[in-house]
Amino acid sequence: MEVIIKKNYEEMSRYAAELIAGQIRKNPRLVLGLATGATPVGTYKELIRMHREEGLDFSQVITFNLDEYLGVGIDLSKPYHLDQSYARFMHEELFAHINVKPENIHIPDGLAPDPEEFCRQYEEAIREAGGIDLQVLGIGRDGHWAFNEPGSSLASRTRVQALTKETLDDNYASFYRQAGIAREEMPHFAITMGIGTILEARSILMLANGKKKAKVVAQALEGPVTSQVTASAIQLFSGKATIVLDEEAASELKNIEYYRHVEKLQAELAAGRRGKRVPEGVAG
Ligand code: PGA
Repeated sequence: MEVIIKKNYEEMSRYAAELIAGQIRKNPRLVLGLATGATPVGTYKELIRMHREEGLDFSQVITFNLDEYLGVGIDLSKPYHLDQSYARFMHEELFAHINVKPENIHIPDGLAPDPEEFCRQYEEAIREAGGIDLQVLGIGRDGHWAFNEPGSSLASRTRVQALTKETLDDNYASFYRQAGIAREEMPHFAITMGIGTILEARSILMLANGKKKAKVVAQALEGPVTSQVTASAIQLFSGKATIVLDEEAASELKNIEYYRHVEKLQAELAAGRRGKRVPEGVAG
């Protein structure tokens, strides 16, 4: 694990966008896993800027989103505030502003007539695309990755999940209240990639910002691996994991000095001031 601590949300977002853009430049056919929520919005804005100003090319990129509310689908005939689907969110916050091909976009279909069969096909589609190269993730206040709420198996696959009260509260406050939708009317179930699905990605980019994430970030990165904090599965991840935090979200980490030390060493290595080889254990 490589933990990068940035001063604020803007710097976190720029760093994350740079990392994603670097992967796309290296591999234009990148299979990119994407997340919704307030956290990645700044990263998506920066990717849009890079597309417009620097020609960052998404024409061959394949995307897979983590989750979608059950019973909800994109409805572009509705004004934004009345369509709270994640499909709509992705359209507004990223896809409409870059040159990703519509046929390369995958988002769980909250209106699928047979959600279980849909989940099976979603897993199949990920496999057919060759697996996810880079998965972007946030973390919920209850420790979830995607909608893998506490108690989800750390080996779980794409499936339907009931949402916790905490998740409903957070998502109501962030998205539904503004739409004038009653809390009881917001969806209480979602289709989500499983933790087992996420752990098969080749690399992970996890983002968190703000004081309200500090406790759960420390639990996920430094606490026990437990299904009660499904993001703690990052400790079982065998690929390259990069965690980018702002100072507030990092504020309860015990090993913060070590993470900063490693970050400095990495910068020196990149600048060629410490030989050419990245020593084992430093790369994370
Ligand atoms: P947020 O949600 O980005 O809106 O805080 C994160 C998550 O639930 O994964």
